[in-house]
Amino acid sequence: MPTFNPVTPQDIDHLAAIVGEKYCIANDPEKLSPYGTDEISDKRNNHLPEVVLKPATTAEVSAILRHANQRCIPVTPRGAGTGLAGAAVPLYGGIVLSLERMNRIVEIDTENMVAVVEPGVITNEINLAAAEYGLLYAGYPMSLLSCFIGGNVATNAGGGKAVKYGVTGRYILGLEVVLPNGEIIHLGGKNLKDVVGYDLVHLMVGSEGTLGVFTRIILKLIPLPKAAMDLLVLFPTLQQTINAIPRVLTHSGVLPTTLEFMDRYAVQASARYLNEELPLQDAGGLLLVEVDGGSEAEIEGVYEAIGDLCMESGAIEVYVAPNATTQERIWALRRNIAEALMSISPIQTSEDVVVPISKIAALMDALYAIGERYDVLFPAYGHAGDGNVHVRIIKKPEMPLAQWDAIKHNLLTELFQAVAALGGTISGEHGIGYKKKEFVPLVLDRNVLALHRGIKAAFDPNGIMNPGKVIPDED
Ligand code: LAC
Ligand code: ZN
Repeated sequence: MPTFNPVTPQDIDHLAAIVGEKYCIANDPEKLSPYGTDEISDKRNNHLPEVVLKPATTAEVSAILRHANQRCIPVTPRGAGTGLAGAAVPLYGGIVLSLERMNRIVEIDTENMVAVVEPGVITNEINLAAAEYGLLYAGYPMSLLSCFIGGNVATNAGGGKAVKYGVTGRYILGLEVVLPNGEIIHLGGKNLKDVVGYDLVHLMVGSEGTLGVFTRIILKLIPLPKAAMDLLVLFPTLQQTINAIPRVLTHSGVLPTTLEFMDRYAVQASARYLNEELPLQDAGGLLLVEVDGGSEAEIEGVYEAIGDLCMESGAIEVYVAPNATTQERIWALRRNIAEALMSISPIQTSEDVVVPISKIAALMDALYAIGERYDVLFPAYGHAGDGNVHVRIIKKPEMPLAQWDAIKHNLLTELFQAVAALGGTISGEHGIGYKKKEFVPLVLDRNVLALHRGIKAAFDPNGIMNPGKVIPDED
């Protein structure tokens, strides 16, 4: 790791002149502290930045990076801070570059079905703007009401509708990027096909702020589905729930938009948290399935077929949510799991492992064995249709913190080893940040890691961009 220079009063003067005094925060721990964290639950992971800058233009971002690069000051770009892997936490202090003021939807180009946006736009606002023209931006992270599109691109965010629509990267046609030396580059554009040179657009997607800063994003839009239907399916056991997943995917004739699962603990916790009165207590597992399409008639047969397949797989009950109110009610169960589980004990770790769909049952067996051996709570839920399982490992309230600290590393190592042995991977959507960095060698071999280090050095020879993230230290 390079040695960085501390931010001096002269640096602050220079940087404040770029963004304006009002948008430069320094020497005020209370105002700096919200920029030293993300949504990792254990706040002992926080690190205070030395200065927070809120640029309004690409030119300002460029001037900041040029100065930081010359002075060897680390820069951590930041969206809304909804990440779960510490990617936006300024590990080495220095500058946090918050994109919150670059929040314009520049253009909805209906003829080309493209949106041009700045990185600080809240993801759902793109949807609201596109919907006015009968268009959809298909990214659907669970935090879409608060996260920024820039962070979605930086982590290649997944979410609840990736079964049919795929993840963020599928919709990124072009990017304006400020490189660590302050140079501004344009990658891709509005073309739907482009095979000139290496695919640097998709190298930037998911790079977690380690290669440059996005200042403009060109997104592909698709026609807004005119009809959607949600099913909430209760199964007596988790095993039956999991067995139904490949059946729904392969036998209903159309890919569902969503195929989420929740185990008994997650269902109960979320229902209790929301005072939800649906009779969920008999469910050993639950599926949430959404189908969408061009008309009610088009989807009717599909969701009926899915309901039948679930009943044949042993479902206790299939609830159909025909209107927006009931749809919201069942999605709320899914979206509020994190908060519900946090209310049980904030000392926990939230993972986003992925296995091939046929291995979900084996993953759950491994999880149960590990969870019981270490005497922790281990609810699981997530994007079953992608094999992307959210494992939340929670310290029981009665376990001393020191004991949790002592077991956590071994516990995660065993979980990730089990995932790797099943042909899976350690992160499907939250990214690596610094939280999972040490586990990366379980899934990327040394030749692949050497390529990563070479790419990082080509973009960022001084190592100022979000240092300490993604790529494990050399041993
Ligand atoms: C979810 C986030 C945590 O799916 O990825 O709830
Ligand atoms: Zn998720």
